[in-house]
Parts: sequence; structure tokens; C-alpha cells
Amino acid sequence: MNKRKRKAVIAGNWKMNMTPDEAVAMINELRPLVKGKRGCEIVLCVPAIDIPAAVKAVKGSRIKIGAENVHFEEKGAFTGEISAKMLLTCGVEYVIIGHSERRQYFGETDETVNKRVKAALNAGLKVILCVGEVLAQRDLGITGEVLSMQTKIALQGVTLDQLKNLIIAYEPVWAIGTGRVATPDQADEGNGVVRKTVEALYGKAAAEALTIQYGGSMNEKNAAELLGKYNVDGGLIGGASLVAAKFAAIVDAAQ
Ligand code: PGA
Repeated sequence: MNKRKRKAVIAGNWKMNMTPDEAVAMINELRPLVKGKRGCEIVLCVPAIDIPAAVKAVKGSRIKIGAENVHFEEKGAFTGEISAKMLLTCGVEYVIIGHSERRQYFGETDETVNKRVKAALNAGLKVILCVGEVLAQRDLGITGEVLSMQTKIALQGVTLDQLKNLIIAYEPVWAIGTGRVATPDQADEGNGVVRKTVEALYGKAAAEALTIQYGGSMNEKNAAELLGKYNVDGGLIGGASLVAAKFAAIVDAAQ
């Protein structure tokens, strides 16, 4: 399949950064910079508290707003959690699930990632599912196995039809926030393993149509080379998504 037929998606992951006022200021700066850039979908995944202000600030532009997590239950006694319906009614379109920081610091497992993926897709959210190996796993030579296992468990019970609302982001944990970016070949290889895994589960056509991002220290300088790889259909960007000019330059690289 021609890579150009897949939807390129450049998504920012703000993590625990930006107050609502700062969010609006950044979006106002970004809007003119990405105007008319139709070569990719543009998403900003923002802290929950910023969502209403961010949704309002992107109105009339092509920038979509995403959340950074979602709970798997519809409602109930889950202090501090946010449901898919709450996100949807606030104008959120995307949600990141299974980010390595949630796996590392907040007890997220492949099983809870799977529950969240299903709940989000069933509710009508678009999902950015994160998978990635830690350095010790790469050094052991089991990156492929880790990516395949994380992908398979996360997608249990997800239908072929629901794949159209799913993006997978390959994020080597050792490359996140470290400035140590994967080489374009490593990114392509990791994304390729994810695509092969999806092919085994859903068939070649579905796997070839799937948008698979790379994430981990992607920035305005290395984006073009990473995005040029056959299996890299976009980026999930942390640090560089906090600065409008840098994020816009990555959007440019995806055109
Ligand atoms: P980074 O983060 O770009 O700051 O490495 C990427 C991510 O965590 O999604």
C-alpha cells in the first residue's frame, strides 16, 4: 500500500503542563501557523482541566482536542477519574491510552489498557494506544515480543470496524523525554512489528490502513526523517508540543 493513503496524524501530548490560560495562548499562537496544513490531522492532547478552554480555543480550526487518559467504567465511585462520556460531552475527540508514564507511575497494566481501549472505542472516542519497550527489554533483544504482546492484549475484543478509530503510537520508553531519539530505522522497525501484529489479528488490508505514530523525543529537527519512513505515519510529541513554533514545524514536516 502507498503510505500516502494512510492518514498522517501529528498529536501533541502536553502531559502535566499548561494552565488553561497558557493552553489558550499556545493555541492562539499555533492556529495561524498550521492554517491550511491539510496533509495531516492535528491533535493536542491536554490535561483534563484545560479541555473546556482548549476546545473553545480551537473552534473554527482543524485542530482537534484529545485527553491524556480515560477510565473504563461509565460512572460511579472512582474518585479522580474521568469517563469517556464526560470527555465526549466536552468536545474531546481523541484520548491517549497506555502511555508509558501511566504504566510506570500509575500502575497501568496491559489488562487495564485493554479495558480503557474498549470503553473509549465503544463510547465513540478515537484512541491513541501507546506501546513501547523499556531499555532493558531492548538490550535483551525482546523488543519485538514486547510490542507484539502489548498490542495483542490491548486490542482484545476490539472489532475490525473499530480499528478505523484507533491509532497506535510506538514509543520506546528510553526515548521519551530523554532527548535520545530512536533512529529512523529503529522507529520504522518498531512500527513495522506493530503493523505485522495487527495484520495477524485483523488481516493485511486493516494493518496497511492503520495509522502508526512514532513517539519519543521527536522534534522540529528530526521529524522529517522519522516521518519519511514507510511505517511511520505521524508522531506523538511531548516536549516539542508545548511550543507553538516547534509543534507547527513538525506539522510542516508531515505535509
Ligand atoms: P517526548 O514525549 O516527545 O517529550 O519524548 C513523547 C511522549 O511521551 O509521548
